[in-house]
Amino acid sequence: MTIKAVVFDAYGTLFDVQSVAGLTEAAFPGHGGTITQIWRLKQLEYTWLRSLMDRYEDFWSVTRASLDFTLKALGLEATPELIVRIAAAYDALALYPEALDALKGLAPTRLAIFSNGSPSMLTNLTRQARIDGLLETVISVDEIRAYKPDPRGYRLVEDRLDLSREEILFVSSNGFDIAGAKAYGLTVARIERIAPAALRAELTSGAIGPAAMFKALRMQPEQLGEPADLTISALTELVPYVAARR
Ligand code: 2OP
Repeated sequence: MTIKAVVFDAYGTLFDVQSVAGLTEAAFPGHGGTITQIWRLKQLEYTWLRSLMDRYEDFWSVTRASLDFTLKALGLEATPELIVRIAAAYDALALYPEALDALKGLAPTRLAIFSNGSPSMLTNLTRQARIDGLLETVISVDEIRAYKPDPRGYRLVEDRLDLSREEILFVSSNGFDIAGAKAYGLTVARIERIAPAALRAELTSGAIGPAAMFKALRMQPEQLGEPADLTISALTELVPYVAARR
């Protein structure tokens, strides 16, 4: 199998969605951890619901609405201005520590992002992290107005890159995204952001907090019969893998 392009999911794969926790905690002391997890869980639920309802709104709208839901569920008051200010944290997420080295090390392979993010969110995100110059293109589901894992999204990646599906290595940490990309026929690498033993230790340690629940729900391989072709524990592991298959 030859790999001609590597395409990354954004949120949870290149960028750490947990990095909003400082801001949520500063805005609502004592609630930052819970807000951060419910917000991300609800954000993805809203993408699926909006797609199923045929009521697409872009990811910025979904990000604000899911934060609004979260604060209301917790009985926390926030003005619309505060909601927008906190939601803007999604435009300034931290890159995972090894992501930059991985992107640089993968050159000259063609590199891209395929994400639920709106075009302006992805522009802000890639610019502030200074990775925009390393990417050939940034592809948003906004073009098809339907969220992952709609197969039309993965087809958009194939069409945009003008490659056959197996020649594209798609990289994600999100179980539903991995299953969707694999079901479409892309070659898929799963980035394992929490080792199984570490998760089991967290889940059996007594009181299970929101972060452990999130890891159990969203950072594990789904049981949908579409496993990734390979699992890595750091994005830099892609460098020798791709070099051997160019
Ligand atoms: C992304 O599309 C799935 O949220 C993830 O970037």
